[in-house]
Amino acid sequence: MAVLIQSEKTVVEPKVVLQSFSLKRHTLDLYVSPEALFVPNAVSRLFAKIVRIEPDDVVFDIGTGTGVLAVWAAHEPSSVVYAVDPVREHALLARRNARLNGVGDKLRSFQGSLYEPLSADLRADVIIGDVSGIADGPGRALGWYASDVPTGGGDGTEVITDLLRQTHARLRPGGRLYFPVAVGLSDDEKIMSVARERFGRLEQKVDVWFPFTDEEYDLVACCLPSAFLSKLCKRGSRMAWNGHIYEATNPRAA
Ligand SMILES: C[S@@+](CC[C@H](N)C(=O)[O-])C[C@H]1O[C@@H](n2cnc3c(N)ncnc32)[C@H](O)[C@@H]1O
Repeated sequence: MAVLIQSEKTVVEPKVVLQSFSLKRHTLDLYVSPEALFVPNAVSRLFAKIVRIEPDDVVFDIGTGTGVLAVWAAHEPSSVVYAVDPVREHALLARRNARLNGVGDKLRSFQGSLYEPLSADLRADVIIGDVSGIADGPGRALGWYASDVPTGGGDGTEVITDLLRQTHARLRPGGRLYFPVAVGLSDDEKIMSVARERFGRLEQKVDVWFPFTDEEYDLVACCLPSAFLSKLCKRGSRMAWNGHIYEATNPRAA
């Protein structure tokens, strides 16, 4: 998948480089670790394109990675941003990236799963849920997920469906959750069935095709179940997978 590199990488310490990333309205310099951690990509940029943040909104960035969307959200007119990721090095770099971008006072970074590290009474107006949603086979084979970064499990749904089920207790009235669906690289029908059960309104905000190189397609074709493989399509001369991002509102407990 395309990586949003705007500048040459500057090596700042072993395995950590400084790169510039361009997202809606803001260009951010961020510490990233392409060898060991998740690197912001075209999907990160699409999230920034469609997430709506109103003045004084409280924002959660669940699955923050090294903090790209949390730092972006802190530059928007939010009041505070809570960033969460289970990978300790992600949570640490997100904190460091907040300081680097002058938003260290506004962004709080936690290590943990989903909402677990956030106090139970905390609610958000906006939840960016860019959690792992690619099945383990393709996620590892394509090198998108370093070995210490959890994928979406065997069918790509494990993290996103938990997120969808828990969100009703975390949104303020009128609040919105943004979540991704990787058609062809996860069981998208299972994800959408849980989404329909848990939200009164779902609006598809992004529908894009990401072409594979021939080499990438050979790698995924070997490890995808036939039900997923049949959802990959030819776009122009290349096979491609389909990425969606939804805005979910009117949450319900079950
Ligand atoms: C597709 S990456 C996105 C990272 C970041 N938003 C970006 O754009 O670079 C998914 C992230 O979800 C995180 N993740 C996986 N399981 C999680 C969980 N149970 N709770 C929160 N985050 C999780 C991964 O560690 C990874 O950083």
